[in-house]
Amino acid sequence: MKLDVLLGLQWGDEGKGKLVDVLTPDYDVIARFQGGPNAGHTLEFNGIKHVLHTIPSGIFRENVVNVVGNGVVIDPVIFKKEIEALTKLGVDVSSRLLISKKAHLILPTHRLLDQASEQSKGTNKIGSTLKGIGPTYMDKTGRNGLRIGDIHSDSFENRYNNLVAKHKKMLAHYDLQYNLDEMESDWLDAIKSLKKLKAIDSERYVNQMLRDGKKVLAEGAQGTLLDIDFGSYPFVTSSNTVSAGTCTGLGVAPQSVGNVLGIFKAYCTRVGSGPFPTELFNGTGEEMRVAGNEFGATTGRPRRCGWLDLPALKYSIMINGVTSLAMMKADVLSGFETIRVCVHYEYQGERIDHLPFDMEDPSLKPIYTDLKGWSEDLTGMTAESDFPESLNDYIKFLEAELATPISIISIGPDRTQTINRN
Ligand code: GDP
Ligand code: IMO
Ligand code: MG
Repeated sequence: MKLDVLLGLQWGDEGKGKLVDVLTPDYDVIARFQGGPNAGHTLEFNGIKHVLHTIPSGIFRENVVNVVGNGVVIDPVIFKKEIEALTKLGVDVSSRLLISKKAHLILPTHRLLDQASEQSKGTNKIGSTLKGIGPTYMDKTGRNGLRIGDIHSDSFENRYNNLVAKHKKMLAHYDLQYNLDEMESDWLDAIKSLKKLKAIDSERYVNQMLRDGKKVLAEGAQGTLLDIDFGSYPFVTSSNTVSAGTCTGLGVAPQSVGNVLGIFKAYCTRVGSGPFPTELFNGTGEEMRVAGNEFGATTGRPRRCGWLDLPALKYSIMINGVTSLAMMKADVLSGFETIRVCVHYEYQGERIDHLPFDMEDPSLKPIYTDLKGWSEDLTGMTAESDFPESLNDYIKFLEAELATPISIISIGPDRTQTINRN
């Protein structure tokens, strides 16, 4: 079997959690391959709304194994809270969850370093979620990190203390007041809970599952435009969010990657700083924010909103090798008389349809095509045949422009509000 991938094509929060939960019944294993608790993946069903940060979004379904891969970074405190919240809802987490021994640990001092670094950048800050993601990946690539497999070792405490001592020296260069004691005792307490979970060589497990003919879905976090290599650098996260990230983040070979389902909102949002060519600063942007309830699932920050950006989407489709698309939050556009879509950019006096290296160049302007909107409420619809004509036109227009089939339309946050197209 080949591994399927589901990932975001924009700046995150496309609705990955919802869709993974919807698709989980078709899979045996759901695996996260990168990122950490900077992610907030929302699931809604039976009147329950739940946000996951590190745990894969297949966790609510029975008979499915959820894997936290080696490419993920784990904050034991947040992880423990996630497990406690799931346990309260009656989910038997420990029987459904496997963690890679090679996944790296976020230390309390990584969070402090994140905070100190952001604070020192002033108005140029990345807008990080401040979960310690960047400093943890820096220690990973700097070959200083601590991993899940280390927590049982006799030298763990010693190595922890050495790393913290190094971080304290780094923190001394910044103007940050902090009290590590409480953070540290919570962290060490959470490490004890982590020891009870099943840590494995997840690369061997995932490959064995594929060899056994089991179906594995890799769940992306963040989005393509936040990728460390291909995103709007430096306003990005610190991992490879793209499909290639499944190879390094789960240990599967490129030829083992099968379908890549790229998911996008029917418009665009971004939380944190960085370029966003189609951002709306007027009442229309505010209408989208309210209609789409665009507030961050991890930080609660209002998300910046704007029209769909086709040059950006085409770029994401190319980088990921997307085989089919899912359009999320179509219901949010109900009631907009005109729907605008950015089809090109104007850049340094020329018309271009790719993302330029310098996305912050003030000459970069979106060029729009206007489509007719629809007023019907989509949220109760159960089949594609119920869709208003203008929505069908929007879908057809996007499929033609993107040269990729749109196989799923999401029309509300609930599991059931999902329409499969043939
Ligand atoms: P993720 O990070 O990609 O999993 O997305 P988030 O959970 O951060 O943000 C997506 C938000 O949109 C969540 O509040 C979801 O419940 C919600 N959502 C997902 N799909 C739809 C949809 O089709 N329509 C509406 N109205 N909301 C949706
Ligand atoms: P999900 O998986 C949206 C953004 C932050 C910031 C930048 C770097 O829910 O889609 P970091 O904490 O990684 O140092 O932040 O990336 N960011 C996200 N934006 N959704 C996410 O995850 C995000 N994870 C990080 O806002 O701009
Ligand atoms: Mg999110």
